[in-house]
Amino acid sequence: MIIQLPVSQKKGEKDMSVKINCLNPIAACGMELLPDTYEVTDNFAEADAVLVRSASMHDLELSDSLLAVARAGAGVNNIPLDKCAEKGIVVFNTPGANANGVKELVVAALLMASRDLVGGYNWVKDNAAEADITKMVEKQKKNYAGNEILGKKLGVIGLGAIGAKVANVALKLGMQVYGYDPYVSVDAAWGLSKDVKHITNVEDIYRDCDYITVHVPALDSTKGMINADAFAMMKDGVKILNFARDVLVNDEDMKAALDSGKVAKYMTDFPNPAIAGYKNVVAFPHLGASTAESEDNCAVMACKEIKAYINNGNIKNS
Ligand code: MLT
Repeated sequence: MIIQLPVSQKKGEKDMSVKINCLNPIAACGMELLPDTYEVTDNFAEADAVLVRSASMHDLELSDSLLAVARAGAGVNNIPLDKCAEKGIVVFNTPGANANGVKELVVAALLMASRDLVGGYNWVKDNAAEADITKMVEKQKKNYAGNEILGKKLGVIGLGAIGAKVANVALKLGMQVYGYDPYVSVDAAWGLSKDVKHITNVEDIYRDCDYITVHVPALDSTKGMINADAFAMMKDGVKILNFARDVLVNDEDMKAALDSGKVAKYMTDFPNPAIAGYKNVVAFPHLGASTAESEDNCAVMACKEIKAYINNGNIKNS
């Protein structure tokens, strides 16, 4: 759907210079789509439009000339949405553009939660110089034994672009997949397989699943949702994956659940110092969308959105 708004200055149309500020570097294939009349500025305060990836804009003063912000990514928790709304600044994101990149990392993490790839890799690295390493392996490998995911139950909380893709791959890997989303029905979810079982109550996911992966945005209603109450319902030895937003998990409750063995493994894409070094936590430095392909897709979508709005007043609901 395209909504057309009366942009006060259709700057591109008038052939006037349009100033674009990139708070984070954006892939060249996106920037190349912007007309020659657009000029890149380092000065945030004089920009007509801002391109941003994960840099926080919360402490920045929004100028009266700013017309649009495009987030090259899905999450908009780094953007002061209320202040933008007050000033009539249009905010875009790029839903789905990096979903495949995030999905692939989540699937890797799902497998890593089941097989001790980190422990095994570290052991080989540490002992690579030993002449009899091949013999040593026979004694060691029991220390890195794991489980298979075939037939296990995976609960997917949040059936947006990423959650639906993760669910579909998990089905292909032979898991039983249960999907829950407070807003989206299984029928309406993005390309979700009909073989995903629709769960209408998140508690059922907590109670029944061997693995739980969360794919919801950081909202007041979702912050800290993975907490002591949720753990109390879960199976002993459950494995949790959080590649959505750090704040969805209550750190102290997670540590207690790891200590008691309630949670056997916590895989996360957030290097939160409160928990990243804790036992049975495997944390990555927010790598989900850090692929060349996702960066290109997000840059192209964000730059097209900015151009359509600045030149024509079009808000394309991507
Ligand atoms: C997103 O919000 O799109 C992902 O978390 C990746 C990113 O922050 O760029």
